[in-house]
Amino acid sequence: MTQGPAGFTMGATHWEAALIVPRILSTGFYVPAKILTNDELATRVETSDEWIFSHTGIRTRRLAADDQATSDLAIEAGRKALERAHLDPKDVDLILVATSTPDFLGFPSTASLVQNGLGAVNAGAMDLSAACTGFIYALETARTFVVSGAARFVLVIGAEVFSRIVDWNDRNTCILFGDGAGAVLVGPSSPELPEPWFAPSLLRSDGSGGSCLLRPAGGTRKPVPERPSELAVAMDGKRVYLFAVTVVKDSILEIITKNGLTLEQIDWVVPHQANYRIVAAAAQRLGLPLERFYLNMERFANTSGATIPLALAEMDEAGLLKRNQVIVTVGFGAGLAWGANLFRW
Ligand code: UT7
Repeated sequence: MTQGPAGFTMGATHWEAALIVPRILSTGFYVPAKILTNDELATRVETSDEWIFSHTGIRTRRLAADDQATSDLAIEAGRKALERAHLDPKDVDLILVATSTPDFLGFPSTASLVQNGLGAVNAGAMDLSAACTGFIYALETARTFVVSGAARFVLVIGAEVFSRIVDWNDRNTCILFGDGAGAVLVGPSSPELPEPWFAPSLLRSDGSGGSCLLRPAGGTRKPVPERPSELAVAMDGKRVYLFAVTVVKDSILEIITKNGLTLEQIDWVVPHQANYRIVAAAAQRLGLPLERFYLNMERFANTSGATIPLALAEMDEAGLLKRNQVIVTVGFGAGLAWGANLFRW
């Protein structure tokens, strides 16, 4: 063995990484101040608080101010996570922003804007696009960077301003979404913490279902929309619903089974907050009490790539997450893509 770059040793045939156990070191979240209630929505489209709540579990959502874009929300959430970890932004190695509503189409990346806003002058930055499953993918990316020693501190942010891409005249979709951001800082676990682990994540995709949930125009497939509504979210709600219930149940079972755990050993499931009924149906099929699922869609609705980090940060702030608890996150959405993370707090 010869000594290679920091943290690596030269094996017989390849560079072998020093395996580092990662942990979520801190969290932060930000939601805009403006609250839009179901009753207010009912003055714009033909709907009611009763219909929305009974079909989705949503009562209110937050809306970004006119001068706020996705990076503004992400910076607030990221700053809180760094402050809670007492980490100097200069020590961040990588910033990942999971978003489907970037400040700009294509470039610059929202992550670069966040890197600048935070003063993380030594960090690389990139966006990750996997719609509502984006945070699951981004957290796994952060985990592998830290495990390999390629990065020490990775700031993972899910941030969205969906209010700018929904058709406010389409009651099938506009009732579902909201704006917000959540962040987690991933880094090496401290040696004094007992038995840390962070399992490899479950990442899946079935692109044959791409038409279920998409923005039909504005990309290279159809740059010029025939109608302005083609720039907005279009969804086959029923198909997405059926897909979601199945993959929430299957993903939880698959990731715990692969890692030799049983349902009884899970302390918290933090699901994508799309619809209360999706979570309740999956919980029932699993035979797992609904109390073990953290739910906040009643207040924040579906903030797409932000729902899971926002929920984790809210739980953290409320003191619900205790050292050594076993947490499963599960995400699903456009792509179709889905996946799950499994780690010890
Ligand atoms: O991050 C992933 C994002 N997407 C999702 O998770 C969406 C998954 N799907 C769902 O959550 C549900 O399918 C919805 C909440 C979108 C819809 O609930 P549903 O129970 O599947 O309703 P539906 O689409 O079967 O509609 C039932 C009726 C229809 O009327 P008719 O055709 O029976 O006369 C709709 O036109 O409800 C009507 N409807 C509404 N009525 C009042 C649809 N949206 C509304 C509304 N207010 N907002």
